[in-house]
Amino acid sequence: MNTFGLVQIGLMLLCTTNTSSLQCNHLPLQQRKVIENSLQLLDKMGKKFPLQCLREKTSFRFPQQVLKARQKETIKVAIEEIFQHIFYIFSKNVTLAAWNGTALEQFQNGLYQQIEQLEACVIKKRTNYFQNKEVNRLKLKKYFQKIDCFLKDKQHNLCSWEISRAEMRRCLQLIDKVVRKLKEA
Ligand SMILES: *[C@@H]1O[C@H](CO)[C@@H](O)[C@H](O)[C@H]1NC(C)=O
Ligand SMILES: *[C@@H]1O[C@H](CO)[C@@H](O)[C@H](O)[C@H]1NC(C)=O
Repeated sequence: MNTFGLVQIGLMLLCTTNTSSLQCNHLPLQQRKVIENSLQLLDKMGKKFPLQCLREKTSFRFPQQVLKARQKETIKVAIEEIFQHIFYIFSKNVTLAAWNGTALEQFQNGLYQQIEQLEACVIKKRTNYFQNKEVNRLKLKKYFQKIDCFLKDKQHNLCSWEISRAEMRRCLQLIDKVVRKLKEA
């Protein structure tokens, strides 16, 4: 490697260490962008909701309480967990969904980067707070398990994926509302 390459790497390292704490300050703004982007990608991924799937629609009942905690940190942890669950749900058996693979990949990448960012900013402070943490985690787990089981029951067919995609859109819209408020607070 030539000197120029080394200097570039050095500069890159400098920049990453400098920006990480800065990025934590801008987290809500960044999150909004990621959520906005994810919502657009969800729409791009497939077509309009197929009417023939309406009959199979199920109510999964997102546990809205997890986004209403009093402490901001509790909400941030919940959001991080939701992103992880969504990432997991969309990471397997999507062939029958017949979606645009590029948009799906971009959607997954966006979520993944956001999860990493949140981990860097949030986890540090995880030890010293909230009684609600475990309760919230279980509620979210239950909710996403319902979706996972639904997909499995339907053998990951097109309708089950379209219904899950619509559900994830609603879920991200709820988070979007909350993140906007977090920023104002
Ligand atoms: C798939 O998504 C990508 C990126 O989101 C877009 O550029 C491309 O045009 C889409 N392809 C089709 C066939 O819609
Ligand atoms: C993918 O779907 C098939 C058929 O529903 C199932 O047997 C298999 O376990 C699924 N794989 C994963 C990783 O869920």
